Amino acid sequence: MPADALWTTDELIVATDGTMIGERPAFIGGVSIDTRTLSKGDVYVAIKGEHMDGHTFVYNAMEKGAALVIVRRGVVGSERTPRLEVDDPLRAMEAIGIAARKRSRAKVIAVTGSVGKTSTKEALRLGLARDGRVHASVASYNNHWGVPLTLARFPAQADFGVFEVGMNHPGEIEPLSRMIRPDVAVITNVEPVHIGHFNSVEEIADAKAEVFAGMSSDGGAILNRDNAFFEHLCGKAKDAGVDRIISFGEHQDADTKLGSFVLHSSCSCVSASVCGQDVTYKLGAPGRHLVINSLAVLSAVVAVGGDLALAALALGDVKAPKGRGERSDLAVDGGYFVLIDESYNANPASMRAAISTLQNTKTGPGGRRIAVLGDMLELGPSGPELHAELGACVADSDVDVVLACGENMQRLWDALPRAIQGRYATDSDGLADAVVDAVRPGDVIMIKGSLGSKMGPLVNLLKNQFETAGDAPAKSGTG
Ligand SMILES: Nc1ncnc2c1ncn2[C@@H]1O[C@H](COP(=O)(O)OP(=O)(O)OP(=O)(O)O)[C@@H](O)[C@H]1O
Ligand SMILES: [Mg+2]
Repeated sequence: MPADALWTTDELIVATDGTMIGERPAFIGGVSIDTRTLSKGDVYVAIKGEHMDGHTFVYNAMEKGAALVIVRRGVVGSERTPRLEVDDPLRAMEAIGIAARKRSRAKVIAVTGSVGKTSTKEALRLGLARDGRVHASVASYNNHWGVPLTLARFPAQADFGVFEVGMNHPGEIEPLSRMIRPDVAVITNVEPVHIGHFNSVEEIADAKAEVFAGMSSDGGAILNRDNAFFEHLCGKAKDAGVDRIISFGEHQDADTKLGSFVLHSSCSCVSASVCGQDVTYKLGAPGRHLVINSLAVLSAVVAVGGDLALAALALGDVKAPKGRGERSDLAVDGGYFVLIDESYNANPASMRAAISTLQNTKTGPGGRRIAVLGDMLELGPSGPELHAELGACVADSDVDVVLACGENMQRLWDALPRAIQGRYATDSDGLADAVVDAVRPGDVIMIKGSLGSKMGPLVNLLKNQFETAGDAPAKSGTG
């Protein structure tokens, strides 16, 4: 098999129990479910989603150079389309994923939790890459198609696999865990995220604990010692036969224990005892929450037998991605301001983390801290109350100006002291002028809300309106 081949077609036929029609390619380079990102030589799997049916794009896939397509039986007529016909393409992709896991000799880590899955997964990708070949989920591909797709792409030669696992409802993680069969499972934390689909936070903990279902008795669980559901999750791990637990956090009994740390504007410096080994490292992105995540990362590295020192060194390269804390310095008359883009995701836990990070970000001379906040979604009936509760957190931080939008954010807005109330609007559109008018040299402006609250357009507006600041003298002075 050529070095860049992922599968032989014969292997796919066996895995999916499909019927081959048309000319059979010998090798497959990759797996795609989206023709916009498909590479020549990939197998295209036609998945039927909520809004689209992948079968509509089979022709595009062939035009872009797909070697093979996997489709439902009888849907595609052309003799010229080499295809594997199956009863259900999503099930076929799962079967390929299961075959990939079976052939793999890699150490496999599953990362779940209410917040910080992608941040932790990406840090693990970096941390393990200096030690071996790492295969990890793309973006937040953590659901009923994201996990099988990531598994189906698992190269046989990988040394480590890192899989993000997510859910909105009970029962979703268990089948994903059984496909992944993790050697190590990380639960970053348990918080009221997607609480609108649950009766209690304990139910969320139980849903996260489903990640233990696919583990064998020699697997390890990496659990947050500071989280209210730590004991609960330990019990669930043991019930599932997973006895090896590595706890992380500030708690004095944590196996991986935070020592001293300094939160800088754009990074953190951390000392920790990781399963008994002392390490000091720089974390390339700021925020206390990322420091705690990094303890989970290093614990998982130790649990899969990776090189702790190399992983700690790699954490210096961590960067906050777009929408999750990415920073830009933008020029404004006489200087520049810092934009923190948190527009991808918001819930009470990540909102607190973002406010605290904003508080720790240095302003330039005369600069202010500005928080632009949109609704946190999927919180169900407790939404208004969870927004109101955050008012005290914002009021107690060093935020100078708040611009807010959305029905629920009005509750937070009402709880703020008048002195920091900048502007309220019913939706993010209504804040556009206020956001552009607000920024001055030396300011730090953080924009956060759930994706559906459309705070991203405000980020784009500032980026379009103000150029990226160069290394002009006016730039010096802001930390
Ligand atoms: N441990 C943490 N506690 C609180 N907030 C966190 C933590 N880790 C990351 N965050 C913040 O939460 C937001 C989402 O982070 P991330 O994308 O890593 O989470 P996720 O669990 O993958 O989310 P999703 O469910 O959308 O895939 C970001 O703003 C990030 O800075
Ligand atoms: Mg994610």
